[in-house]
Amino acid sequence: MRLRVVHTVPALRRSVAQWRAAGEPIALVPTMGALHAGHVALVHAAKRRARRVVVSIFVNPEQFAPEEDLDKYPRTFAADLATLGKLPVDLVWAPSTQVMYPPGFSTRVHPEGPAAAGLEDKFRPRFFSGVATVCAKLLVQCMPDYATFGEKDYQQLKVVSRMAKDLDLPTRILAVSTVRENDGLALSSRNAYLSVSERASASTLYRVLEQCAAEIASGASPARVLDEGGAEIERAGFVLDYLEARHAETLSRISSLQDGPVRLLVAARLDTTRLIDNVAV
Ligand code: PAJ
Repeated sequence: MRLRVVHTVPALRRSVAQWRAAGEPIALVPTMGALHAGHVALVHAAKRRARRVVVSIFVNPEQFAPEEDLDKYPRTFAADLATLGKLPVDLVWAPSTQVMYPPGFSTRVHPEGPAAAGLEDKFRPRFFSGVATVCAKLLVQCMPDYATFGEKDYQQLKVVSRMAKDLDLPTRILAVSTVRENDGLALSSRNAYLSVSERASASTLYRVLEQCAAEIASGASPARVLDEGGAEIERAGFVLDYLEARHAETLSRISSLQDGPVRLLVAARLDTTRLIDNVAV
C-alpha cells in the first residue's frame, strides 16, 4: 500500500477520526526528518503499542537559535518517505511552516522544571520553548493515544512528558532506548557533520559515560568521577559544555547515588558539531 502523506490539519484529522471511530489506538512519532535507525526504533516501539502509526516530519524553526543550523539542517524528504514506506507506518504528517505557524501566530508554551535544569537550556535558551510549543501542537493536531520519544534527547523527553501531564493532554509519552553505532556513538543526524578524525574521537562520549556510571554505581563520589570523565572527554579534543549527574526524573542536582535514580548527561563540541548523550547509573 502506498504511504499516505498529508499536509493540512483537516486532512490529518479526517484520517485520524476514521481510526478513532473504528476504535483503533493511534501512536505519533514526532521527527524532523533525516531519518536514521534511531527514528526507525521509535516507529517499531509505536507499532508495538498501537494499531495505527503516524510519523510527523517537520523541521521546526522555533527550536533553532539564529546562529544554529536551521538552513544547514539535512532535509531528505524523498529518502525519508522511502524509509517509512518499508515500515509499519499508516500516515506521514508533513505540515509546511506556514501551516504550523500561520501569519499572526502568537502563542507559545514555556516549560519550566526539567526545561530549566541548567543543562541544554543553559546553552540553548529558547530551545525547549520551541520544542514544547511544536510538540503541544503536534499532540493536539493528531490527538494520539501514544507518542514515542528517544532517550537520546533525555531532557527533551522529560520536558515533553511533564508538559503532557501539566496540560492534561490525553497522550501517553513512551521513552525509547538510544540506538547506537557499533562503537557506542548515539545515532544523530548531526553525526554527518563530523570529519573522519572527529568521528573516531566521538565514541569517547559514550565510553566515558559508561565508565563514570560504573564507578558511581560501585560507590565512588560522583563529583570526583565526573571531573575525571570531563578531563578525558577534553583530552579527546572536545570542548565540554557539561557532564553531570542528575535525578533521572526531575533532572534536579544530586550529590550521591542515594539521591537517585541517577542519570548522567553530557554535551560536548567537536569543532562546530555539538553532540549530546546520556546513560542511566
Ligand atoms: P529529531 O532530532 O528528528 O528526533 C526525533 C526523535 O527521534 C526524538 O524523540 C529523538 O529523541 C529520537 N532519536 C534521535 N536519535 C535517536 C537515537 N539515536 N536513538 C533513539 N531515538 C533517537 O527531537 C526532535 O527531532 C525534535 O526536537 C522534535 C521532538 C521532533 C520536535 O521538533
